[in-house]
Amino acid sequence: MTSIWLVSLALVAKIFLVKEFIKRKKLPPGPIRLPLIGNLHMFGENLHQDLYKIAKKYGPIMTIYFGLVPTIIASSPHAAQLFLKNHDQIFASRPHHAACYYIFYKQRNLIMGKYGPYWRHMRKLCTLQLLNNVKINSFQSMRKQEVQILVNFLEKAASHRDVVDLSAKLTSLSANMACLMVIGKKYNNVDGDFKDMVQEMSRMAATPNLADLFPFLRLILRMKQIAKSCDEFLENVIDEHTGQYLSDQSKTSIDMVDTLMEIMQSGETEFEFDRRHVKAILLDLLVASMDTSSTSIEWILSELFKHPNVMKKLQSELDNVVGQKGIVEEKDLENLDYLNMVIKEGFRLHPVAPLLLPHESIEDCTLDGFQIPKGSRVLVNVWAIGRDPDVWHEPEKFIPERFVESTIDVRGQNFQLLPFGSSRRSCPGLQLGLTIVRLVVAQLVHSFDWELPNGTMPNDINMTEKFGLDLLVAFMDTLTTTIDWILSELLRHPNVMENL
Ligand code: HEM
Repeated sequence: MTSIWLVSLALVAKIFLVKEFIKRKKLPPGPIRLPLIGNLHMFGENLHQDLYKIAKKYGPIMTIYFGLVPTIIASSPHAAQLFLKNHDQIFASRPHHAACYYIFYKQRNLIMGKYGPYWRHMRKLCTLQLLNNVKINSFQSMRKQEVQILVNFLEKAASHRDVVDLSAKLTSLSANMACLMVIGKKYNNVDGDFKDMVQEMSRMAATPNLADLFPFLRLILRMKQIAKSCDEFLENVIDEHTGQYLSDQSKTSIDMVDTLMEIMQSGETEFEFDRRHVKAILLDLLVASMDTSSTSIEWILSELFKHPNVMKKLQSELDNVVGQKGIVEEKDLENLDYLNMVIKEGFRLHPVAPLLLPHESIEDCTLDGFQIPKGSRVLVNVWAIGRDPDVWHEPEKFIPERFVESTIDVRGQNFQLLPFGSSRRSCPGLQLGLTIVRLVVAQLVHSFDWELPNGTMPNDINMTEKFGLDLLVAFMDTLTTTIDWILSELLRHPNVMENL
């Protein structure tokens, strides 16, 4: 009896492996997957680091199965260029994403919107009306004021030689700037529910183990609750603004809600644009700008604390360019060459979105001899690209001087350095994000001589990556792929759904 079982088992395994082999002949290579879970068992806390190790064996274009869905991983500048430049339009869509579907108005937003006329209109609106240079500059004095508040706080703490939780202060600075710009009030003054929701999202994201998040239905319910409180919060924001807008036409600082309401009320958009779309964009802008800058600043400052010689060199540049006036102005930033090298080096080693956001192909495509079917997901491992020894000399080391006389920058033209992505789906907030990161790093380095607390030595600084909000999307993608699959099975079997 046992032998019949063993023979059947061997037969099933053989059929699976043969099917796998036939499929794999066309797709890029990758590790053997297990039934249902695919390659999920191969991943720990940091997906991008595990993918980097696997790519060393299977090459810069490989196939990984997150559950049942094949995902193509690009891990070299050449591979990134193929997907993001040579075949840019084919890979410019985003996959279905359960969390985003609930939270972002059925993916009617820009960040996770499917490629097509609707997304193109939304992108044009954001780039031309909300994130253009004039608009960004109109918030310059707000940024200056918020940075000054942080400097005043730190000066006071320094005079008492108090230890400061800089990470918390940077998060709050970044959130305040984002909220002031988008909804016209500080994050600190925003009502508790919205803050709870942001914290809840961070907590969900910070859970390192898939299993901790099951049962998945509870998670879906939680997503729906988050979506509801988010919607209520945004409805209130719009109501407050509509009242204000009608009664106070002389307001001097026009936040992004004002601009969007003006566009909506003008009725002049070339596409359907109502409150749902305004809310989707507002949420995009808040989510995209709240944590990205503070995380980047925190990494760059950590590298500076770890490398006192680089810190000294940067301070000396700031003394020369900014002088003793104390306050770094945004116009100074263009003259701070060494600062820009430090920032690039920080982004190279610590991109806040190590796998960018997931891309999806809208048609079949042959690429480097591989056949990539329509609907394939693509992740570009910019973290791995930043550590590629074929591109970077001593890639693990923090050496800003590597950019002396180099034309490589972070704006998406150089595929060896892509912290903001490249081409159609690249970050439209690049200029704003870069300005905030450069301004805050420059000001904090210029204003203070930093010391590590309680005798901590530079080499003791923990540079291990946290599984935080910025890794949310990659992680949620893995998770929701599995959830999507289970949900579609449930939808096909309503009796099982009812029992649940
Ligand atoms: C240091 C700061 C920032 C970094 C490193 C960053 C990085 C990124 C990355 C890597 C992507 C995805 C690119 C891709 O999928 O290929 C992205 C997309 C996006 N970012 Fe940023 N970002 C930052 C700040 C901002 C800010 C301040 C805003 C707006 C206020 C913003 C708005 C967006 C939007 C709307 C998208 C989606 C674009 C689309 O799918 O068409 N980002 N960002």
